[in-house]
Amino acid sequence: MKERGSFNSRFTAIMAMAGSAIGLGNIWRFPYMVGQNGGAAFILVYLFSAVFLCIPIFLAESIIGKRTHLSTFGAMEKLAPGTRWKWMGFLTVFTPLIILSYYSVVGGWSIEYFLKSLSLSFSDPAVSMDEHSAVFGGFISSTWAPIVFHTLFLLVNAVVIIFGVRGGIERFTKLTTPVLFVLIVLIMLYSVNLPGAAAGIDYLIHPDFSKLTGSALLSAMGQAFFSLSLGVGCILTYASYLKRDENLLATGIFTATFDLLFAIIAGFAIMPAVFAAGIEPGAGPGLIFETLPFIFSTMGVDAPWLCNIVAILFFLTILFAALTSSISMLEVGVAYLVDQRKMSRTRATALLFACCWALGVLCSLSFGPLRDFHVFGMSIFDACDHLTSDFLMTFGSLLFVFFVGWKMKKADVRGEFTNDGSLRFNARVFNVVYFFIRYVAPAAIIVIFVSNLLM
Ligand code: TRP
Repeated sequence: MKERGSFNSRFTAIMAMAGSAIGLGNIWRFPYMVGQNGGAAFILVYLFSAVFLCIPIFLAESIIGKRTHLSTFGAMEKLAPGTRWKWMGFLTVFTPLIILSYYSVVGGWSIEYFLKSLSLSFSDPAVSMDEHSAVFGGFISSTWAPIVFHTLFLLVNAVVIIFGVRGGIERFTKLTTPVLFVLIVLIMLYSVNLPGAAAGIDYLIHPDFSKLTGSALLSAMGQAFFSLSLGVGCILTYASYLKRDENLLATGIFTATFDLLFAIIAGFAIMPAVFAAGIEPGAGPGLIFETLPFIFSTMGVDAPWLCNIVAILFFLTILFAALTSSISMLEVGVAYLVDQRKMSRTRATALLFACCWALGVLCSLSFGPLRDFHVFGMSIFDACDHLTSDFLMTFGSLLFVFFVGWKMKKADVRGEFTNDGSLRFNARVFNVVYFFIRYVAPAAIIVIFVSNLLM
């Protein structure tokens, strides 16, 4: 068999997985969801679901990946030969490609904003909040510019992926993931020291449970899934590049911890600045592209150079975070084509690039010329987002936990989780973990799935 890629060490494997997990979800989605759903109370639910729900799903995916050293379709076929499971695995090849299509549109916006910050466009204190919103609205609804940046963003992904697991993904993420942490901590230090930041800090640490409605609960759980890249085979595929003797519990806990930590630091980087500038915290998806430029410009009165530096660092963080995540989405499809269809990496990447580019163009146009074209009553962009986050990802997660909990032999699951008994701690906690994978996670996912259907 042709040599499949693999990660060189535990450190690089965790950097790749954490890089996949840390993305626009942490910097763009998490802060505005916290803002809309009651601050600290939302964070608590999020934490709870990350630990009790997401880690078991993460383990289920990585058990399948590491056991078979194959991507989703092949893994299912190998573990359940002659059954229909492989077609379920096949389904999960498409989900990350749909996500990638709209994700790279937002990735493209972040390139545009990074370039804007380089040209020092955010330091004019005379520009009002409404003007910043108008600039953003004008940009995303235009026809060509967002498509150009979307293309550029996808191209960078393709280049990294063509270089392979070690030469591309590993080399890229082992540099960028640690840099992301340094950047976001710097921005947080700036933000919490702004005059008036205290109200924002307060908002993040004092829970307001009255805002925790049913839909807020669902959003918190959905956000936890999205943030850990679960249910679409990203973790499964990355786990298939782990060494045989890797400790899955350790990689899972490290990845989830880094992801959580990053989301919370990002919250502390953004909310204090939002409050300091006297803006509504629940600004929604426009938060980082409309509100933050305004914040940068108001803060720029006293120290314009400092505000320019922070703006550049901030949009660079977003761009890197988006890239380390999007490559993991592309890799799922590429791994399938390479493993199963025996295609070369370059051809596989080119083919999927073309598909995601085309769907992405439609998503991008759905803010402008195609704005009145609706699918299920939503714009194309929103339809892709809802279809994947509310249904396909939850369905995929259910599939993975169900497969590991009910279809695989318990002895095999134990063997993979404990490396045939050699990991003592894992052996001791196995029964608890197995209970969560077999009963708790599927039950919780079904509740989420059905509630999403009824909403
Ligand atoms: N987790 C990433 C983020 O927070 C996005 C991401 C990467 C993702 N791979 C995924 C989301 C798979 C859903 C499914 O931005």
